[in-house]
Amino acid sequence: MLIGANWKMNPRTFSEAKELCRGVSGSEGVDVVLFPPAVYLRQLAEAFPHILFGVQNVYWESEGAFTGEMSLGMAREAGAHYVLAGHSERRQHFGETDEMVSKKVAAALAKGFSVILAVGEATKGDDKSIVIESLKRSTQNVAETDMTRLTVAYEPIWAISTSENHEDATPEYAQEMIHTLKQEVAVGYIYGGSVSIDNVAGFLQQPDIEGALVGGASLKKDEFNEIISVARSLKK
Ligand code: 13P
Repeated sequence: MLIGANWKMNPRTFSEAKELCRGVSGSEGVDVVLFPPAVYLRQLAEAFPHILFGVQNVYWESEGAFTGEMSLGMAREAGAHYVLAGHSERRQHFGETDEMVSKKVAAALAKGFSVILAVGEATKGDDKSIVIESLKRSTQNVAETDMTRLTVAYEPIWAISTSENHEDATPEYAQEMIHTLKQEVAVGYIYGGSVSIDNVAGFLQQPDIEGALVGGASLKKDEFNEIISVARSLKK
């Protein structure tokens, strides 16, 4: 079971970030990975060595004239073991394409990171093939031997809590989509999109869902810990 906390561009201050980490309990049978803003990473990783950390984004080149970017080596040195790639907010707001995502995924896996690759359709009712094709393109450069460190987060954009007019996906809907995706790219799958203490059990009880990628609720210390407890009680 894998529970990821995508803090996005939150919280506002480093002291709040530390406070959030203080709440995270270690957990047998559940890998808990926090994705803080990269500027907080090194200090958090040093202060909380028992917690697994990741970066929300990375660049595939190892150094050079790429203003504003961070290499995998830098992420590793700062304390990251995981890379989140292809999040819909990066695709929507920062123009990331499947091709760029595939370079990030392949480079991060080749450097020994575990990767969570996010895919999902923009609008409820979009054809499944849109997600399937995006997933295939985003994983096209991945070496077969690296697949064991790749997890796909299925995140329908319309179900993300900050999307306009967002609507919760049902666990059955998420299961059906993930089951389809798994036949195309055979890796582990987690679900993301308005996961909360009220609905997490329903998602984690689905046969093909092996965890959750949590946004808003991961910024609420008590709720996030309760989500981890539910995951622990249902561990697969
Ligand atoms: P919410 O849990 O706030 O909907 O965010 C989901 C997400 O985008 C996680 O990556």
